[in-house]
Amino acid sequence: YRVEKGNHRHFMAKEIHEQPEVVGRTLAHYVDLANGRVALPEALPFDFKDLSRLSITACGTAYYAGLVAKYWFESLARLPVEIDVASEARYREPPLDTAGLTLVISQSGETADTLASLRYAKSQGQHTLAVVNVPTSTIAREASAVVPTLAGPEIGVASTKAFSCQLTVLLCLAIAAGRARGTLSAERERELVDALITVPGLMADATKLEGEIELLAREVSKARDVLYLGRGTSYPMALEGALKLKEISYIHAEGYAAGELKHGPIALIDESVPVIVIAPHDAIFEKTVSNMQEVAARGGRIILIGDAKGAAAAGLDTMATVTMPDLDPVVSPIVYAVPIQLIAYHTAVFMGKDVDQPRNLAKSVTVE
Ligand code: G6P
Repeated sequence: YRVEKGNHRHFMAKEIHEQPEVVGRTLAHYVDLANGRVALPEALPFDFKDLSRLSITACGTAYYAGLVAKYWFESLARLPVEIDVASEARYREPPLDTAGLTLVISQSGETADTLASLRYAKSQGQHTLAVVNVPTSTIAREASAVVPTLAGPEIGVASTKAFSCQLTVLLCLAIAAGRARGTLSAERERELVDALITVPGLMADATKLEGEIELLAREVSKARDVLYLGRGTSYPMALEGALKLKEISYIHAEGYAAGELKHGPIALIDESVPVIVIAPHDAIFEKTVSNMQEVAARGGRIILIGDAKGAAAAGLDTMATVTMPDLDPVVSPIVYAVPIQLIAYHTAVFMGKDVDQPRNLAKSVTVE
């Protein structure tokens, strides 16, 4: 069927704004609201408690969703995770034992490298699980089990709502794994579910920052290079922020683990390089503050995406602060996806780029 843009200028804008709804729908599928626990409707042909290792493969934005999930599976379920881009995993031919699970993540379910890595995992006798948005896709058909994202058709080439739905499903899976492996108390599960339930509303609040992000984007559009920094789950979010910006605005952008700043990218910093720091007020926030101080000391212009508590604690002169709502840091990637996407979107629109059909990129890469 035909998908329309409605009142939006671009599909990408429509899809960013749809996120509270589609993340809500995805949550409703995986969360038993009455009992405050995760309940997966899909039968899984393995038990999380028997798994020796989780191997994640994906491409592009789906890969960054997987990288966030690595932190969640390790911390909530104490499950060892390895992750690689599918184009490497498929040729690396990693040793995979039969007690392991391979998890592939794909919006389209047709990405050639991701499909090949799934087939390789099956050939090694692994359990396979796919997080996909297109239920009739090849990956959905070939994986031993599928947990769908309920994002609806995504038209914009740069993934937005599929990404936040992937994160939502992956966090639900990590919670289910934590319960099965006895590493997550019922009380903590309930807290996490309570936090998850607030996510669609918090995402809607985040879209209200659009006016100020649009102004900020005018500054970003003047840059030749942009650096994104984050720690913990905000590190893959920095990688995703940089990917989004380069995909649609063609500005060179790099995401870095904030702690790696001193091992290279600090050499690039001067007043012409905006440094976008993704930093909710979490357990490692203070560490990120010291990285921001290093940037500020070299005349770098910081754009902080954080919460009011963090901004006050950091006490730094920033070029701009995008003040996000307070939340349980575990769910921050899902909510922080919104300003990250809006910065890229408005920068590209301001520069007159075709955000729905960026040059040289395809929505789904079905050839090598
Ligand atoms: C292409 C798209 C990206 C997407 C990636 C993986 O590069 O432009 O937005 O993240 O493919 O696609 P998949 O359908 O497997 O998630």
